[in-house]
Amino acid sequence: MKDISPFRNVERIRHNIETLSTFVDTSKPGWTRRPFTSWYGQGRDWLKQQMQACGMEVEIDASSNLIGKMKGSDDLKPIMVGSHTDTVTGGGRFDGIIGVLAGLEIANMLKEAGITLRHPLEVVDFTAEEPSEFGISTIGSRGMVNNLSQEMLERNDPSGLTLKDAIKMAGGDPNTIAENARKKDDVALYLELHIEQGPVLEQSNHKLGVVTGIVGIHRYRVTVKGKPNHAGTTPMNMRMDALTGASQIILELEYLCGLNYSEPVVGTVGKMNVEPNASNVIPGRVVFELEVRSHDTEILERIIAKLIEKSAEISEVRGLKISFDCLSKSEPIRVASQVQDVLREACQATAPAISLPSGAGHDANQLARITSIAMIFVPSQDGRSHCPEEWTSYEDVALGVEALARAILLFDKNLDFV
Ligand code: GLV
Ligand code: MN
Ligand code: MN
Repeated sequence: MKDISPFRNVERIRHNIETLSTFVDTSKPGWTRRPFTSWYGQGRDWLKQQMQACGMEVEIDASSNLIGKMKGSDDLKPIMVGSHTDTVTGGGRFDGIIGVLAGLEIANMLKEAGITLRHPLEVVDFTAEEPSEFGISTIGSRGMVNNLSQEMLERNDPSGLTLKDAIKMAGGDPNTIAENARKKDDVALYLELHIEQGPVLEQSNHKLGVVTGIVGIHRYRVTVKGKPNHAGTTPMNMRMDALTGASQIILELEYLCGLNYSEPVVGTVGKMNVEPNASNVIPGRVVFELEVRSHDTEILERIIAKLIEKSAEISEVRGLKISFDCLSKSEPIRVASQVQDVLREACQATAPAISLPSGAGHDANQLARITSIAMIFVPSQDGRSHCPEEWTSYEDVALGVEALARAILLFDKNLDFV
């Protein structure tokens, strides 16, 4: 097998990460590039140019994913490499971004090494991986595998725009998502390089992680309706305070997630609206979004069922109306052991590696519906992510790219076992 390591180019990786981090909304903290904004579009225009410059044909698919395509020598299904360039508000420069730039970098490395893969190579910037203003995450990868329902496409953002129209404005064709979706085995293999977003690699002094599985995430919007009233004149025993009711539900979520289960569980409420949001008015309506994550779907279902049961009691005692609406579910996945073996071989030829599960969700969760998936992690400094401090050294990103390139060369030779 030809060696790819002489083509490792830390400087180009640094340059590309820093260039992409200039297309951000400077009115927001950190490096914010929310999907369907002008900054997102500018980043994609730049990315498209880079893909074309290394000889890729570029298209935007029905779900508005940006795809760079490189031909293979044989008549085979493509190997796909991808991730996302949208960020959370106040996010960093690495989450998702390095996965897309790794695909671009590998296309450049192959070209410079004079290697033509047997399989076509597709590099994908999936639309809106992070939770969007429509209450849905992994929008592009859901669309690619026909897991974006009509109900989801009709949802509105706070300005009233439908997801369907947002996808159209980003160059997609929402009416043909289902008919253009990739079907089982239309993709030979999906690979994603990502930052770990946790402390394990750094603390164990490893540069690379072979991902063994990815958590499932269930998200709900909870609406608590009480009765707004004067904060000074309404006695404590005559209130219907939506915020104290919501607080009780949130503490119950924390309690339920802290119990002992066969797999670790985490639960979070990170978004909340209080109405009317005035210091001297008893809150009349609270809407918050909660998520629970685990590698076991049954545990997720059990915790939500218990929380709904407890909320019914809270509603009774406090005279509140409480409703749960499911926003989205992504199911946990396990990476096939034969795939992990090849990744371990590719990683160990590059730098010290360990195996670990992913507590973050990824576009790979969606791609797993139609093909085998593989993921490699690189370390996150201080285990920080989804914040401006998110950092991975360019050298570590380059090691991840090299390991991914080695894995692609190994898989390209033989994918029959997958
Ligand atoms: C993706 O960023 C996630 O929320 O795990
Ligand atoms: Mn993220
Ligand atoms: Mn990500």
